[in-house]
Amino acid sequence: MKYAFILGRVYTLSVAELLAVLEKTDASLNLTGEPVKILEASEEILIVETEKPLNVERLQKKLGGVIKILEVIDVIKKREQDSINFALKHYFKPSVLKKQFFKEYKGKMQFGISIYILDMALLQRPQPNPRDKNQGVYNSVFSEPKRVGMMIKNALTDAGQSIRLVLPEYNSLSLASVVVTKNLLLQKGAEICILAAQNNIFTAKTLAVQDFEDYGRRDYQRPVRDEKQGMIPPKVAQIMLNLSGCKNGNTILDPFCGIGTLVQEGLLLGFRMIGSDINKAAIKGSEQNLEWFRNRYKIAPGKYGVEVCDAKNISGLIAKSNQKVSAIVTESTLGPIYGKYPTPVEIQKNFKDLEKLYIDSFGDFNKFLLKGARIVICIPAYRKNRDQYEMFPNLDFAKALGYNLVDIISPAIVKRYKFLKLTSRNTAIYDRKDQIVAREIMIFEKN
Ligand SMILES: C[S@@+](CC[C@H](N)C(=O)[O-])C[C@H]1O[C@@H](n2cnc3c(N)ncnc32)[C@H](O)[C@@H]1O
Repeated sequence: MKYAFILGRVYTLSVAELLAVLEKTDASLNLTGEPVKILEASEEILIVETEKPLNVERLQKKLGGVIKILEVIDVIKKREQDSINFALKHYFKPSVLKKQFFKEYKGKMQFGISIYILDMALLQRPQPNPRDKNQGVYNSVFSEPKRVGMMIKNALTDAGQSIRLVLPEYNSLSLASVVVTKNLLLQKGAEICILAAQNNIFTAKTLAVQDFEDYGRRDYQRPVRDEKQGMIPPKVAQIMLNLSGCKNGNTILDPFCGIGTLVQEGLLLGFRMIGSDINKAAIKGSEQNLEWFRNRYKIAPGKYGVEVCDAKNISGLIAKSNQKVSAIVTESTLGPIYGKYPTPVEIQKNFKDLEKLYIDSFGDFNKFLLKGARIVICIPAYRKNRDQYEMFPNLDFAKALGYNLVDIISPAIVKRYKFLKLTSRNTAIYDRKDQIVAREIMIFEKN
């Protein structure tokens, strides 16, 4: 079976999460724990081949960094000079469409069309020579969704099927997941996706899309929010939890839990969670949020606990709890909140203060973490320009305490896919344009 995963905005993290999940043994997702075979990858898509059909609905709910999951139907050869619609001219026959792409539906059917680019050179295709009789008609790639969509619609109309076409917005090639959901495309027809490279095209249909409304609820409808300290977005929390290497039912600790985002997301992924924070008000907020969350998402009682505690002394609390902590997943304090970009002196002072905190905390974690247990942590990084950050200077403290830094994506994959954006130490950055402080996400493993 071939599947395509449409990646989120911070695609490097999406790839890291996806590979970590796909390579795990998980009967509920039909995963065997074998390394997955990657067929193609770009900043937008990762295409894989698996032996067994995946449980796509569950997988979509589990992955914070994947926007859609598609089933790949066919691969079609394309000459470099051909436009996408030209290459597909003879492909979309009514019989193929009905059998391979469309759901049975009694009412007025509708379908959407999205194009994803596997080879970014396609976006800068040179104008063809109009005297060359062998080439397909060239059009801007942005006119392709409409051309391909009309081709399909006309084929179906000619076969007696009346159908509505939903197109991406002007200057966009693909439909947002909200459009797919709001138009009920997966129920009333299909979203047909074209994954285009220079020399071939994959045709695919969407099987699942990210539930954007639910992520909004999990973030904004909580009784307590803390704009000042900041909260990790639920999707990023999911990605970090999925990088922990933990299995369903394992216990994960967040010793800087704030108002409990990682705790709630961990519960939803099937882990037991312990949250702690030095700040009493944060723990009160966590308690309120988690009570709301537990009821809203029907989490069985006894799956979590939150307490006030300094991360530097957390081992005492863990010993009392009698639980085996399989991993730590946390967003530590990012340091002071700056109104404007901090000076180099301020940045270095923050890093020094954080280093002290990490030395004491990681030292205390040593008392209960077992060999192989992971710490997935995000620490601050300051944007210098578009792709460069002032990063925490030195991770030697972790090595000295018995933790190895783990590559967030294996070097072989990084070598093969040049578009992946990793730091020089093979960690990944999550940032947003409007924020001064970005988050560097890293994985340590106890040796
Ligand atoms: C960036 S916030 C974490 C937010 C959390 N991820 C969320 O989404 O709600 C960092 C938290 O670290 C806590 N903190 C700072 N120093 C601490 C320490 N020594 N031990 C435990 N918690 C600490 C702060 O009170 C703050 O709530």
